[in-house]
Amino acid sequence: MIQTVLISGGTSGIGLATAKILAKEGIRPVLLGRNEERGKSAEEAVPGSMYVPCDVTVTEDCQRAVKAASSLGKLTGLVLSAGIYEEKLLENTTDDEIEKYFAVNVFGAMKLARESIPAMRGGAGSIAAVASDAALQGNVQCSLYGATKGALVSFIRSLALELAVEGIRANVVCPGDIDTPLLDKQLKDYGGSRKEMGDWYPLMRIGRPEEVGELIAFLLSPKASFITGAVIPVDGGLTDW
Ligand code: NAI
Repeated sequence: MIQTVLISGGTSGIGLATAKILAKEGIRPVLLGRNEERGKSAEEAVPGSMYVPCDVTVTEDCQRAVKAASSLGKLTGLVLSAGIYEEKLLENTTDDEIEKYFAVNVFGAMKLARESIPAMRGGAGSIAAVASDAALQGNVQCSLYGATKGALVSFIRSLALELAVEGIRANVVCPGDIDTPLLDKQLKDYGGSRKEMGDWYPLMRIGRPEEVGELIAFLLSPKASFITGAVIPVDGGLTDW
């Protein structure tokens, strides 16, 4: 049976790295994104993949994505990697920004998961959400972002219990700084270098997207068959200081 995995944020960064790993295992990744050009180039980079336009804040887009994935094979996995990041003091944050961050990082994940569950039913499905070290510890100028990622962790832990009776697992990974387009933007907006960032880490460097992708691929696989509701840091020891 062909297995398909839906990946929000699948056309770049952690989502794309995960897709490449899954493709090597014979799984068909369905790459969700909002930019046609980036989607097509991701599709070319990942053998057997399919790009589907999807804004995770739009329910109809999520429904269309699940339908497209199911047309390729049984939906056995869901990766919730779409997300936005900005550093800002709360007092400088507008109502629109508060709503937008929750709309993408939390409600978008909830909508896509909700629409995916019926298609995953009847198989040993697995969901992996990408939160952040900011869900596990306080970070300066991250009150809004950290709140969205903390909510994502709480969401997945309860969802894991809701789905356990059906044999569907749900887990969260919490990356530290990872070298992706999101980090490129962070460095451009706020300055600093990868080396300076890495110096904060016990392992003395930031992470690579495939280091998160390998963990996600493991969580989606039968090798992780007894793991659900787990919140797993992948942060070079950052949250252990
Ligand atoms: P990325 O920017 O390469 O990937 C995020 C993707 O989400 C982008 O392709 C973006 O277009 C997409 N996206 C944003 N809003 C969307 C929407 N409304 N609908 C559909 N897609 C949307 O960045 P990266 O690093 O791969 O981020 C993946 C996840 O990892 C994010 O949730 C991020 O918060 C989280 N994360 C990243 C860290 C890092 O240092 N790169 C650290 C901790 C967490």
